[in-house]
This record gives sequence, C-alpha cells and structure tokens, in this order.
Amino acid sequence: MTALTLSTAAASGLRADAIVVGVAKGAKGPVLAPGAEAVDKGYDGALAGILETLGASGGEGEVTKLPAPSGFKAPVVVAVGLGAVPDKDEAYGAEALRRAAGVAARALAGAKKAVLALPITDAADVGALAEGAMLGAYAFDAYKETGRAGSAAKNGKAPLVEVALLGGKPRDAAHKAALARATAVAEELNRARDLINTPPNDLTPEAFAAVATAAGKEHGIKVQVLDEKALEKGGYGGILGVGAGSAAAPRLVKLSYTSSKAAKHLAFVGKGITYDSGGISLKPAGHNETMKCDMSGAAAVFAAVVAAARLGLEVNVTGWLALAENMPSGSATRPGDVLRMYSGKTVEVLNTDAEGRLVLADALWKASEEKPDAIIDVATLTGAMVLALGSRTFGVMANDDAFRASIVEAAEEVGEESWPMPLPEHLRKGMDSPTADIANMGERMGGGLVAGLFLKEFVGEGITWAHLDIAGPAFNESGPFGYTPKGGTGSAVRTLVRLAELTSAGDLG
Ligand code: BES
Ligand code: MN
Ligand code: ZN
Repeated sequence: MTALTLSTAAASGLRADAIVVGVAKGAKGPVLAPGAEAVDKGYDGALAGILETLGASGGEGEVTKLPAPSGFKAPVVVAVGLGAVPDKDEAYGAEALRRAAGVAARALAGAKKAVLALPITDAADVGALAEGAMLGAYAFDAYKETGRAGSAAKNGKAPLVEVALLGGKPRDAAHKAALARATAVAEELNRARDLINTPPNDLTPEAFAAVATAAGKEHGIKVQVLDEKALEKGGYGGILGVGAGSAAAPRLVKLSYTSSKAAKHLAFVGKGITYDSGGISLKPAGHNETMKCDMSGAAAVFAAVVAAARLGLEVNVTGWLALAENMPSGSATRPGDVLRMYSGKTVEVLNTDAEGRLVLADALWKASEEKPDAIIDVATLTGAMVLALGSRTFGVMANDDAFRASIVEAAEEVGEESWPMPLPEHLRKGMDSPTADIANMGERMGGGLVAGLFLKEFVGEGITWAHLDIAGPAFNESGPFGYTPKGGTGSAVRTLVRLAELTSAGDLG
C-alpha cells in the first residue's frame, strides 16, 4: 500500500521521482492551480506558458510531463488537469482534487515517490488528495509473475510507494485526522477491489468467509459464519438453492462491529455471488467473462464494516455477506423449482440467473430479526440497471423517500454517482406465481425495479430499507479514469462509510 505523508518543506529540496502540480482550463488557456507557486518560480513564472506550448489545456484527466527546473532535487514535473477553474472566491471541489491525485498516481506507476503540490485549502482537501492518490495507485498484480525478472515493477506497473502532500500540515490535528480517515477508507476500499478481482476459482464462498474471519480478528469485529450444514438447519432456502449446483458450498457471514457509545444500529447486506454463470438458465458467452464481480456488494459491505471499526465510529454496524456460487449441474436448482425461503415464503424459480435476489432475501430477513434502525443492501443485481443508468451510476431504491434522498446525497458528498429509482407497485403482479407465494422474475421492462420490489417483500415490517443496485459501476470494463482502475472499483464502499459516519454523528435517521 502506498504510504502518505504531509510536508511543508520547500518544493525544490524534496527528493522524489516527480513533483505534481495542478493546471486548470482557463478562458484564455491553461491556468496554474494554487500549490504550484514554488515550482512555477523555478521556471521564472513561465510554467503556464510552457504547458500551453506543450499542448496542455488543463482539461480533466490530462497529464503533461516536463523536466523539473534546474536546482530541483526531483527530476520531473507532472502537470495534471483539474478541469474548469472554480468560480471566483471558490476553491477546487473535493472530487476534482480526488480525481487529479488519482490521475497523477496512475501516471507515476512504477516510480517510488511522488510529491503532490496540488491545492490544499482545508483538511477536507487533504483527505480528498490522500484518498485519490491511494485509490489511483491501486494495482492488482497478485496473479502476475511478481517474484521474478518479469515483475510488475519491471513493467512499470508497481504502485507508488510514497506520496507526500505538499502544503498538508503534519502538526495540524484536522489535517492528520483527514489523512488517517482517508488511509483507512482507501485501504479497505482497495481490499474490496482485491476481492472482486480475485478469480472465482480461488475466491469461493468459503475462502471469502475465511478472509472476513481473519479481518474480524484483526479489527475487533465479531464474525460468525454459517456453513452449509448450519444453513440447512436454519432453513435458508434461498442461499442453499442458489449454491446447490456448485462444488463450492455457500456461506452466510455476519460481521458485528459494536461501539459502547452507539445510539443507532445499521445493517448492511451484500450480494456475494462469487461467480454467476446463470446456473441452469446459463448465460451465453459474452455475458459471463466478468461475472467474478458478482460479489461486489458483499465486498463493499465487508470493507465498510472494517472501515467503520478502524474509524471507531459511534454506531453499531452489522454486515451480512450472502455468499454462493451460481453454477449449473445435476444438483443445481431448476427453472420451475420452488424454494422455501428463510422468511417462510415460497419462491418459484423461473430463471436461475435471477439468483441475487434469492440470496439477499434470506439475508435481509435474517438482518431484519435484529430490528436495526435501517437496512441497506448492495448488489450487482440487474443488467436492467446498467441499461438504465450506464456504467458509472448506481440506482437507489427504498421504502422511504427521505432515506433514499439521504443516500443519494451521501454518495454525492463522497464522489460516488447515484440516482434515485422508484418501486412502482403495479410491477408486483408480474411476479405472481400459480404455484408459490412469488416468482423470482416478473416483467422484463423495468427489471431493476422488479428486482427491488422482490427484495422489499423480505424486509421486516416497519424497518427503513434501501437497495443499491451497483451492477453498472462495480466493475470497470473500459479504460481507467480518475482514481478508478480497470476491473473491480469498490463501488458503494465510500457511500456506506459516509452513512455510518452520518449515523454516528446523529445526522441520519
Ligand atoms: N449478476 C447479474 C446482473 C449483472 C449484469 C451484474 C451485468 C453485472 C453486470 C444478475 O444475477 C442477473 O443475471 N440478472 C438477470 C435477471 C433476470 C434473469 C431477471 C439480468 O439482469 O438479466
Ligand atoms: Mn444472475
Ligand atoms: Zn448475479
């Protein structure tokens, strides 16, 4: 993991592989951002002009490298684009800083140390830069030949070892706290990415549960694992039905973080399909290559509970990981089978590829038994949500309009894109089953909302609940951007952590 430090030293004297400055898109060409003054002085005040000559515009995501001024200990200056210049008397926004730091960290992969001379006006900026740098520096090389000559380092892909934030005050309590928070959140988010990127032949439900158990020991979180025998005994028909076709047995993992000062209790529930082949309703080629990402909801829940513990938040947070592998085989659930769920309801499985709602239904009902103040589930649930919102925005559904709005707002605060979606009652009748209480599929149109309506039936009476469908943003199949790498993104982790923080501060519910 990349180490972060705060520094108030002179830019010219810093030993590093590169110094990073910010450049924004002004009306008449590139404009240097605050923080770049000392570096600009090295070029006799000509840096903005030099950057313009080199073709820089200051647009978001842009990277321009140039030799450092003579007398500087660092050999290279990297200018990263910040996008539009802020309005008069306003500072650069947190998300612009987070993205710029992420772009710089990616551009400097393979180097050891970078100094970020980017704008810092307050502690929140320190946090944003730190988070962006750590998230942007992420690389998944566990399956590369790292131990030998052809290592990730040789390919120039190894993450930065150290990032110093110039202008961040090492003795300022607020700056230090922001750095510590960013470190905890980014480390856990990167751990979620590791889990998502781990191939499904290695990350079975049992292996995921073992990772959670080990993390629980490390961070003082109580972890309970229900194995297939315990699931059988408890009547978890949804989780068992989805896992029935796999040689790797399912698990339900409960993580409990408790604070002696807690006034509220949040439950997070994650879809943890370690691989979604579709089951007997097999997905065609072209639709199953990235389905190791189908446990991204459980990874987000796991990361958020650990982060809440590391931050010592004053709220009780219970995480539920509904883990199963969805495979076709002679023992698999068939389209037409009826499952008796943990809640007692029966479900006619019309399509075994609509498996996420089945494992979540059991976990939601189980979570409801503790009567938490709110339940939030996170799931790569439907292709329909990807069609509706694209690959960077998750949908938010809820049984409470105000709660849904708070979640969208919390997401926005931490730089995650989300959008409120409805749960239209008229779509419920499409799931009527002649045989069972409900079918696991309904109308195709509005499929993301249909899935949400299914889940709603498994939330205990009177409990505030929201559902985050992260099928779009969970896994980045195109090129990296900002602080988001290819592959697992860690979608929803920061939103969940923010919700726990707001609850801890008494500002939610
Ligand atoms: N895991 C998929 C949803 C998904 C699609 C996640 C694309 C990430 C990217 C889910 O289990 C699924 O297969 N849903 C079906 C439901 C349908 C059969 C009712 C879908 O969306 O097609
Ligand atoms: Mn599926
Ligand atoms: Zn799935």
